[in-house]
Amino acid sequence: MTQDTLLIGQTLGFAGNPFEAGVEAARHDGRGGVLIRAGRIAETGPADSLRQAHPQAQVTDYGKGLIMAGFIDPHVHYPQTGIIASWGKRLIDWLNSYTFPEEMRFGDPAYATEIAGRYLDLTLAHGTTTVASYCTIHPESVDAFFTAAQARGQRVVAGKTCMDRDTAPDGLRDSARSAYDDSKALLEKWHGVERLSYAITPRFSPTSTPEQLQALGALWAEHPDCLMQTHLSEQVDEIEWVKSLYPQARDYLDTYEAYGLLREGGLYGHAIHLEEREKDRLKEVDASLIHCPTSNTFIGSGLFDMAGLMAAGHRIGLATDTGGGSSFSMLRTMAAAYEIGQLRHNPIHPAQLLWLATAGSACSLRMDDRIGNLAPGMEADLVVLDLESTPDIAQRAARADDIWEAVFPTIMMGDDRAVTATWVAGDQTQGPPSVITQ
Ligand code: GUN
Ligand code: ZN
Repeated sequence: MTQDTLLIGQTLGFAGNPFEAGVEAARHDGRGGVLIRAGRIAETGPADSLRQAHPQAQVTDYGKGLIMAGFIDPHVHYPQTGIIASWGKRLIDWLNSYTFPEEMRFGDPAYATEIAGRYLDLTLAHGTTTVASYCTIHPESVDAFFTAAQARGQRVVAGKTCMDRDTAPDGLRDSARSAYDDSKALLEKWHGVERLSYAITPRFSPTSTPEQLQALGALWAEHPDCLMQTHLSEQVDEIEWVKSLYPQARDYLDTYEAYGLLREGGLYGHAIHLEEREKDRLKEVDASLIHCPTSNTFIGSGLFDMAGLMAAGHRIGLATDTGGGSSFSMLRTMAAAYEIGQLRHNPIHPAQLLWLATAGSACSLRMDDRIGNLAPGMEADLVVLDLESTPDIAQRAARADDIWEAVFPTIMMGDDRAVTATWVAGDQTQGPPSVITQ
């Protein structure tokens, strides 16, 4: 039997959604513990009583460090790692100038392997333990990503990006048939292997023909337990373009709905400029909307209506959208969500931001029974945050009267220096060797 591990520090989890239940949904303990057994959380509670009850456990005491669920990033493009922070374009020009030329390189398995490993190591250093990533049209890019995640023991979602329309460049197109065949083969190879899940991935309706959307809708119907990820209503110009390419569609969402690509388990990235019918249908089917705030300001897309959509009961995740997003960090992403909330006169509370980056994003991936919270039975994917990681943050945190004032400076100003340690399935993968106390 493997030895139990006991992590001690401040602990933070959630008994519910703080957008619905208020800040009281948060469970904070200034001196709490997390007992890990065989890769899962076995118990949480006051540090002293866990130590007494489990005298054999190996103890790591993080002092005032904040132990919480690892961050979950439900919309990223790992192949865009190398072109993050590329200057001066809006969506369509940004795709054509920077993204598509880079994505063409992923037919080379060696390059795909190099970037997949680099991407996962960067995000682990930022405390992110699960991501849902687009790959490229190349099956090799999917194999490289799942192999890299498997080697790190991570729970990830990924899929082959499908594009068969002449709006995508030469060298970066598949066909309706090959998209179906390749996606099916990859799904059968990887979905449900250890902690890996496949997501059917039409990039967005402007780069697919109706035939391809139809084929992928059919594949989803054959594998209803898979997720499906795509983009929706990110920029106003894009919506006009969709309407010109699909003149019979009632709206952008209808280009997915008409081909079997709208239901629960669908992840719709951005979802900024939604019409009333679209909101109603997304809510009705309980689809997931993925808010990507650093991307929305960086590419100049618009202001997601977090307060309105949450109040209407939508399922919402929070994501970086690397590399349209300008950061790998979920701390920076929470800060950007807060700033967009401010521009809409709806300040988002730190408890709500932290919930979005963990349990909320887990809900959006329909994995909240396994990841995204501190609770017995959950997989032990954890981040430990130093709330005084730099002098500027520390001097503000020193004045804090409660946990929310103590953590908010790290949300707004923190980066990977605030990540003391990252744990994946009960093993520490980042940070200095654990401090073992007797
Ligand atoms: N819409 C279609 N593809 C992309 C992409 O790669 N990034 C972003 N931000 N939007 C998209
Ligand atoms: Zn995206």
